[in-house]
Amino acid sequence: MLYDNLAVNEKGHLAIGGVSTVALAEQYGTALYVLDEDKIRANCRLYTKSMQEWFGEGSMPLFAGKALCFKGMYRILQEEAMGADVVSPGELYTALAAGFPPERLFFHGNNKTDEDIRYGVDSRIGFFIVDNEHELEVLSAYAGEQGVCQKVLLRVTPGIDPHTLEAINTGRIDCQFGRPIETGQAARFVEKALSLPNLSVCGFHSHIGSQIFEAQPFCDAVDILLQFAKDMRESHGFVAKIFNLGGGFGVRYVESDPVVDIPANIRALSEHLTRGCAELGYPIPHIYMEPGRSIVANAGLTLYTAGGVKEIEGYRSYVTVDGGMTDNPRYALYQANYTVLPANRMNEVADGTYTVAGRCCESGDLIQEDVRLPEPKRGDLIAVLTTGAYNFAMSSNYNRICRPAVVMVRGGEHFLAVRRQTFEDLVACDL
Ligand SMILES: Cc1ncc(COP(=O)(O)O)c(C=O)c1O
Repeated sequence: MLYDNLAVNEKGHLAIGGVSTVALAEQYGTALYVLDEDKIRANCRLYTKSMQEWFGEGSMPLFAGKALCFKGMYRILQEEAMGADVVSPGELYTALAAGFPPERLFFHGNNKTDEDIRYGVDSRIGFFIVDNEHELEVLSAYAGEQGVCQKVLLRVTPGIDPHTLEAINTGRIDCQFGRPIETGQAARFVEKALSLPNLSVCGFHSHIGSQIFEAQPFCDAVDILLQFAKDMRESHGFVAKIFNLGGGFGVRYVESDPVVDIPANIRALSEHLTRGCAELGYPIPHIYMEPGRSIVANAGLTLYTAGGVKEIEGYRSYVTVDGGMTDNPRYALYQANYTVLPANRMNEVADGTYTVAGRCCESGDLIQEDVRLPEPKRGDLIAVLTTGAYNFAMSSNYNRICRPAVVMVRGGEHFLAVRRQTFEDLVACDL
């Protein structure tokens, strides 16, 4: 099994967190997102404990809400004493609606509108992660009007290519986020931030990409950030107290993906940082990270009911499911890998090869190609693993398909966390 929260029960059914997926499908229907709350909490604790141990008090993980955003998630994060980053006013609203403490929120975004900026300041969020000079000016002015000194981190791009998928690779110079160090724009960005009133510049943010399986790319980013921070100290007397290193480590979608030892990698990164600071004579900053995927991906799976098989002789066989790119657009977007299992027939021999197709009116609506399964029959339960991140969060109502429910599994029990959309929900905004 890809993860230790998955098992096959005595009936040959796939179970997650000790709960049968067949029982969940019967009770809640399909398509269905299932999340293992115990796994989410364990992942939160792994980051919190390792970061405190190796980076010291004052360093912490901030959950990247873009990976999975609904009220129940923020309640878990609050109980686990995590911070959280939000990338839109909608995510900010969700966090606040769940009662998440605003001072532990970090507001991202490369084009925050004036309204977004006012909403963040009025909500008294902890930090703005400022992307550009326009945002600095509006933020400084509005913070002044409100009599607030707003804490900010400045997003810079270190120019690192961590060799992940193009679409989730953001630390390179040529991207729309932050200001590049190499071209001198980041230095001018710092100068501008320091010149404006009502802002407390606390440090830097960089996100180099996602699905990173080792400490080395983060170490490379730290080297560049440290040299930049030293230059800023020399030129402006500014000392960065926080480095936010962006998204977390990679997860296993398929057996061939490596297992990441998160504590060991955090330790290696911390040792690298300590050495780097000593060499440059720079005070060790607090480290924040923004893991999304590695907190929730392996806590989730999606259940579908098979519709039927279409065999095209000499070509291939498709199995259709009652969901698709509306609940998981990642294969359609960038051919993301997934493990697909016959959830109600786990002990049978997987002797056929099938392409799993969704129900949308779109030929690109595939969940995965060339999957090994026992020949699916109409009504079979198909499970797609590792869907806790960037599935519910990326879901849509294309073709006016209702979004699936989200069910949580905790201590062998289960409960609804997000109800299934209804047809009424689909027309709720139509005038
Ligand atoms: C700025 C930022 N922070 C955090 C993340 C989360 O990354 P991951 O889910 O891979 O941990 C992302 C993802 O793209 C991001 O863009």
